[in-house]
Amino acid sequence: MAIEIRATGSAVPSRRLTNVDLATEVDTDDEWIRSHTGIGSRHIADDNTGCSDLALDASRAVLTAALKQEDCREKTLEEIALTLDMIILATATADYYGCPSTACIIQHKLGARNAGAVDISAGCSGFIYGLEMAAGLLGLNTSRKRILVIGAEVLSRFIDWNDRGTCILFGDGAGAVLLEKTGNPSTGSGKRGILRTILKADGAGADYLIIKKGGSRNKFKAGEIIKTPPHIEMNGRAVYNFAVKAITGIITNLLKEESLTIDEVRWIVPHQANARIVSAAAKRLGIPEDKFFLNIEEYANTSSASIPIALDELNRNGKLSRGDLIMTVGFGAGLTYGGNLIIY
Ligand code: UT7
Repeated sequence: MAIEIRATGSAVPSRRLTNVDLATEVDTDDEWIRSHTGIGSRHIADDNTGCSDLALDASRAVLTAALKQEDCREKTLEEIALTLDMIILATATADYYGCPSTACIIQHKLGARNAGAVDISAGCSGFIYGLEMAAGLLGLNTSRKRILVIGAEVLSRFIDWNDRGTCILFGDGAGAVLLEKTGNPSTGSGKRGILRTILKADGAGADYLIIKKGGSRNKFKAGEIIKTPPHIEMNGRAVYNFAVKAITGIITNLLKEESLTIDEVRWIVPHQANARIVSAAAKRLGIPEDKFFLNIEEYANTSSASIPIALDELNRNGKLSRGDLIMTVGFGAGLTYGGNLIIY
């Protein structure tokens, strides 16, 4: 039995905000942003678009891609949606605080009436966590076959545009994969699917990347006027230092635990947070930088959506073939970090 990625999909808002555009409103410039982060632009959702809307578009894209495959028995989007056993949404920017889960909203709009639905909160590592949780759910219960794993964010809604240390970094978007349990082997020759995952956390760094308002730390006060809306606060240096260590550790350990060399890996798909973090990790490990797939220049940091958007871009551009060994690696609020080794 193998847990395989059957198809990928993504959805990114059409409105593109370049560094040059941003510098007309914020005390920054294109040269600083590019040299410190590798970011050239970000895509921003319009005021009426919530996390579930982007997630729904990415979900429809992934199911449409699955329908095009030769061995797909379902003919329509409605039919394939009914085959889903679970929807797992990784997000830090849900439609609502606490409840209902955004995954339930997606489940309804997608017509996935046979699927359970749950949101997970693991910061920018959310998609990596989501894949492993889905693999566990598929493995535990023989009746489950298909799970949709989504990473979706509308981070622009939680940005303090006066804070140039954070507002330049983030963008909106969603990516998704359809995971399917197949009869292929997960070990030995001809093995396929998710081979190994590492999931880690270091809650001592919880304050380094945080949205403080809302939640049970805040007492409800009737009639209270909230002057400063919830927004991202970040200790950039601390997250940077943590990230380089986290990425290098995860890559080293995933390879070691599967007795693989880096040459056997076709792509490392890192969380797209900062191209400098990736360069530093590559240098420390002696890995060529072109082993890492980066699209941060176009989309900036879309948190839990960044890895599935990158996977979908690789796939759509014909840079990913069946049988390729790929590695995801990421870090984020929590602090969390981790990675998956997958034979595509
Ligand atoms: O998904 C996880 C999300 N978070 C991350 O990945 C964040 C990781 N951290 C980082 O990527 C980097 O720390 C940043 C890109 C956020 C900041 O880069 P840095 O090299 O750590 O800059 P810094 O905060 O140490 O600031 C250096 C200088 C300061 O000026 P002075 O005090 O040296 O005169 C800042 O005021 O750069 C200034 N600065 C800027 N200048 C122009 C900070 N932000 C900007 C800006 N434009 N946007």
